[in-house]
Amino acid sequence: MSPETLDAIARIEAQTFVRQVDWFAEIGSTNDYALSVADDASVITPRLIWADRQHAGRGRSGAEWWSAAGALTFSLLVDRDDWQLPAARWPQVSLVTGLAIAEALSELLPGYPVQVKWPNDVYLDGRKVCGILIETAAGTQRLIVGIGINVANSFRSAPAELQQTATSIIDHRPAAALPVAVLLAVLDHWERRMMQFCEAPAAFTAEWADRCLLTGKPIRLTTGSTTIIGICTGIDDHGRLQIDTPQGLHQAIAGTVRLLTNPARS
Ligand code: BTN
Repeated sequence: MSPETLDAIARIEAQTFVRQVDWFAEIGSTNDYALSVADDASVITPRLIWADRQHAGRGRSGAEWWSAAGALTFSLLVDRDDWQLPAARWPQVSLVTGLAIAEALSELLPGYPVQVKWPNDVYLDGRKVCGILIETAAGTQRLIVGIGINVANSFRSAPAELQQTATSIIDHRPAAALPVAVLLAVLDHWERRMMQFCEAPAAFTAEWADRCLLTGKPIRLTTGSTTIIGICTGIDDHGRLQIDTPQGLHQAIAGTVRLLTNPARS
């Protein structure tokens, strides 16, 4: 472990809400590790599971999450008792997380648009820079918030198709491409936003509207075998995506969204 990583772990445990850090040079998936320890009551939360490399990273809908050296990959293992949040609000933690990350990245990348693509991607200058995978540990009241951010892994030499859909901090502002600094910024914003969300969840509706990548755009929502096409009109105060369709308003609680204006980038 480098002295920089050692120092970061000490700072995180001393100065943030995280009570313990598990760091790995390489692991299959930080979410898988968190799931494997989640039912052990002696495992202290909030816990940060942080890996320099993952060789079996997972994305949403069973997809693989591939990340090169320089990406920031970690999971937060939290217990419902860590936050005074009613159970009905837990599904919205993904949107709260997206907002917190978007804010952290905005501060690090002044002048660049950073938006949340419902339900849980963060886009930098119109391309995906971060994915979020939230999972619940069955039989427990613990939640795993898995986050992958492209920080120092450039997409400049990636295949053209990938360059159109994904990006990295280093490709916009090399000076900000420091994984430890990004991690500290994200933890700071995540804690602040979670505390606000516990106290006043309704205040988030306007915040989500401000950061929503999809509002005003034609989209296609796929949920299982169902497809909805319409214009996104925003996110309501329960975190549901609002879609204006010829059949009326559709309110989505889950699904995968594709932008229809520029399909190559969605
Ligand atoms: C997505 O965009 O589909 C979500 C990607 C989530 C990737 C992160 S990386 C850290 C954590 N561990 C995993 O295996 N996945 C999440």
